[in-house]
Amino acid sequence: MSASSQPLDLIRVEHVSKRFPLPDGKGDFTVLGDVSLSVHHGEVLALLGRSGSGKSTLLRIMSGLIRPSQGVVRSNGQPLLGANPNLAMVFQSFALLPWLTVQDNVELGLAARHVPPDERRERALKAIDIVGLDGFENAYPKELSGGMKQRVGFARAFVLEPEVLFMDEPFSALDVLTAENLRGEIDDLWNAGTFPSSSILIVTHNIEEAVYLADRIVILGSNPGRIRGELQVNMPRPHDRNSPRFKALVDHIYSIMTNPDQVVTGEPTPQRSSASPFSRALPHVRVGGISGLLELVADNPDGGGSLPELAHRLQLEVDDLLPLVDASVLLGFAEVADGDVRLTTIGRDFATTTILRSKDLFRQQALGRVPVLSSIVHTLKEKESQSIRSDFFLDMWDDHFPLPEAERQLATAVDWGRYAELFEFDAIEERLYLPQSPVALSS
Ligand SMILES: Nc1ncnc2c1ncn2[C@@H]1O[C@H](COP(=O)(O)OP(=O)(O)OP(=O)(O)O)[C@@H](O)[C@H]1O
Ligand SMILES: [Mg+2]
Repeated sequence: MSASSQPLDLIRVEHVSKRFPLPDGKGDFTVLGDVSLSVHHGEVLALLGRSGSGKSTLLRIMSGLIRPSQGVVRSNGQPLLGANPNLAMVFQSFALLPWLTVQDNVELGLAARHVPPDERRERALKAIDIVGLDGFENAYPKELSGGMKQRVGFARAFVLEPEVLFMDEPFSALDVLTAENLRGEIDDLWNAGTFPSSSILIVTHNIEEAVYLADRIVILGSNPGRIRGELQVNMPRPHDRNSPRFKALVDHIYSIMTNPDQVVTGEPTPQRSSASPFSRALPHVRVGGISGLLELVADNPDGGGSLPELAHRLQLEVDDLLPLVDASVLLGFAEVADGDVRLTTIGRDFATTTILRSKDLFRQQALGRVPVLSSIVHTLKEKESQSIRSDFFLDMWDDHFPLPEAERQLATAVDWGRYAELFEFDAIEERLYLPQSPVALSS
């Protein structure tokens, strides 16, 4: 597509937000806030965001499977009123019907569209052939490996010849080699011009997968899910993982995803500021995990490390590494720039000093930089007993998060607060108290 031609938006999302009611009936919970996005004709678009950022919810809204709370979705310019007939979906979980053969699973969508049996059969055979499963037409899903099941998933989508193919983390349930293989084959089909759809939208939390497959990457932020910005990959296909541009893009995106406040493009991305310290989520990591990461970085001779390399050395998925990095940045122990994590002077001190001094440093940083912890300490100090039921704080988180997440926030805050010796938690009484409180002194 030449840069000058007007791209045709196959699907257009305009100012969409989505709220779900909280289970206790007290208000609702915003999953997506004011999202606008288009899928252009002829492109592979990746939607990249961390777990829980609302990617699948956005995909379901774009498919017309659920309705937005606000805003409009258009398909070829027309407002979408029900399920979008111009698209098909490949799911992370394959979603095959176990009692049907490969052939019947693939034909299913055509039957729903009242395609006559002969044509159904012929089109299904062709789709099965494209995904390399000829010979397995009469097999049942339980006889197939994960990779083969997902091939059926692709065939079932291909057979519909949808204008846009949606894939929701299609490779993340497969082992690394199988995923790599299938991803490569999908890319080959697209590059050869034989792909049965004119656009692809892939949802992923895997940065390298996004850079490998996509022409354009839209980055979603969390709490609530919103578009932070987009990047053009701008490389000849297939995208060469060893090229400097590939590596630079991966590093750049790592850096964006570990800095929630970083602006992705020149366009302003207003941050939601909120008065309550309980509205900003703590990353769910234990203090031991933070020290582990910082010690590993401190061991590197140059006092830094690239995030992809650290993820590799720690044998962690991105989703598991990023919260550790977030916590280190939040506490002022590390900084992230261009995909490299670097210790601050305090971070180096924390990682290399005695346990007693590292506790002091942690306490100092937690009080100075984590408002929710200082707010808890402040509240406890105001009480004569210097103690308070943990429900009191749970309610504060509950105003901003669904209950299970509110409970996790409390658990994380307790872990950090205890380590820093800022407050204690009595699990039987379900109370938080100051270490020097009457409760603590009498026990
Ligand atoms: N039907 C629903 N009712 C209430 N909450 C929901 C519903 N569907 C999703 N959510 C919540 O919305 C948030 C976003 O969920 P979603 O599945 O869209 O995230 P995601 O980015 O796809 O995450 P993942 O990477 O883990 O697949 C989560 O907190 C989830 O619990
Ligand atoms: Mg999802």
